[in-house]
Formats: sequence, C-alpha cells, structure tokens
Amino acid sequence: MSVAAAWNGPVGMHWAAHSERYDAMLAPFDAPLLDAAAITAGDRVVDIGCGSGHTTRMAARRAPRVRVTGVDISAPLLERARALTDLPHVSYELGDAQVHPFEPGGYDVAISRGGVMFFADHIAAFTRIGGALRPGGRLAFVCPQPSPPQSEESATLGLIASLLGRDHAVEGEVAAAMASLSEPERIRRVLGAAGFEDIGTAQVTAAAWWGSDAADAVDFFVSRASGTVVSDATRAAMLEALLPYETADGVLLRAGVWVVSAHRPW
Ligand SMILES: C[S@@+](CC[C@H](N)C(=O)[O-])C[C@H]1O[C@@H](n2cnc3c(N)ncnc32)[C@H](O)[C@@H]1O
Repeated sequence: MSVAAAWNGPVGMHWAAHSERYDAMLAPFDAPLLDAAAITAGDRVVDIGCGSGHTTRMAARRAPRVRVTGVDISAPLLERARALTDLPHVSYELGDAQVHPFEPGGYDVAISRGGVMFFADHIAAFTRIGGALRPGGRLAFVCPQPSPPQSEESATLGLIASLLGRDHAVEGEVAAAMASLSEPERIRRVLGAAGFEDIGTAQVTAAAWWGSDAADAVDFFVSRASGTVVSDATRAAMLEALLPYETADGVLLRAGVWVVSAHRPW
C-alpha cells in the first residue's frame, strides 16, 4: 500500500478517529514549532500535511488577521479538520504537497507538525514549498528524532511493535517514511538543495502522553494494529511493558523531535 493510500485508508482513518489523542501526544512540540514559525499579524500561513488541523487552528490564533491554509493528502483527515474548525480565515485544500499548485510566493510562513517526512523526493517537494513562500518567507517544521536505541522508552515501543507484528505492509511503509528526516545533516542537505538558507535544527525532548493509564494505552496500541488479532497474552505483555510509565498524569514516554527552521532567500 502506498503512503498516499495509507493516509487515505487505515492510517488516516485511525488518526482522524483518534485526533484528540494524537494532539495530546504531540502537544509538547506545538509551542516550539509555533515559536520557530514566528507568525506575526497579517501573515499568510500554509500548514503542510495539516491532518486534522490542530496546528492550522493554533497558527490562526497566534496573531491578529492571520490567514491559514491547511494542505493534506488525506480526505478522512481533512473531513475531521473541517468538522473541528470554526474559525474565519482558516481553509483546507486536499492535495499532495509535492505537486500542489500553490500560488507562487503566496505565503509568508510554511509550517508542519510531522507532515513532511512522507515525500518520495524531498528536495523536489521542499523546492515546491519554497516556491509557495515569498522571498524571505519562513519555514518551520517538526519531525521525529530516532529514540536513543538504548533508552527504555525505545525498547518498550520496539517490544510493543514486535508483539503486535507491526512490520506488516500498511504501517511498515508509513513507519519507514516517518524516519526519513531523522538525521539533521540530511535535513540541512535537503533544505539547502531546495534553496533554503539559515537552516536550524533544534532538539526538543518531552514526555509524550499515550493514555490515561497503561490499560488505556494498550487499547490504543491495539487499535493502531488494524486487522491484527491480539491475544490476551499479548495484551498482558504490553500492559507489563507500559506499567512502569504510568504516572498520575497518564502514560508518559519520552520522545524527541527536531524543530527545523529555515528561510527562503530575499
Ligand atoms: C504524522 S501525520 C501529522 C498530521 C498533523 N500535521 C498533526 O500534527 O496532527 C502526517 C500527515 O501528513 C499528511 N501527508 C503525508 N504525505 C503528504 C503529502 N505528500 N502531501 C500532503 N500531506 C501529506 C498525512 O495525510 C498526515 O495528515
């Protein structure tokens, strides 16, 4: 299954059905992203791979008279975004950011919370996004960092993935793309080749919320493994793996991202 088919099929439908949980999980990275975007009054913003539109709406509230367009390849996620949005100056467009007919120079800022890792050709895609920015326009996005392989969180997620047999085709391709911008040297090389300058990669690490308690987090993991029959023994093993991360604030697993910023040349 292609990445586009996955986001229009099981993966996108899962993100749409669980958008509140994904938003809670990714919430620690919202302020760093929006700070890097430095949105000011009257800015025209495009949110690449906007999903259910959480950062699209946050960007619109960031300063007066900001207009935001969320672009996403996933019909189910845009349907969710539209249902959740009751703001003037926010609109959504269905499209593949790699080939989307952006108005040349039509935006002051491009942002993305985890929507730019899935391109087949990153340089071509970022060249197109750069063309949508006015001279001097800003790019800010968040993309996942690989967890340190020796970390307990990484071992826990790896264990859960293997328990669920998550290396199957659907999530496998999306999971592989998820790591496509995990190296800062590659991020700099890609953005430089796409014509961006002043490229910054700042590391942000935070505790990501996976559920109200370990049992709730297990249910969520199981729901992600669509089509996989999960035995009671597997559930019990997952519960045991997650119990050490249960806190008064829910199940918290450390996660790291790169907050990437860049400019289109003047
Ligand atoms: C990890 S989700 C993040 C969604 C959203 N930014 C958020 O933070 O909730 C990745 C998003 O990128 C979108 N996407 C993947 N490839 C895309 C492409 N080529 N053009 C536009 N959107 C794309 C997916 O449909 C999905 O909504």
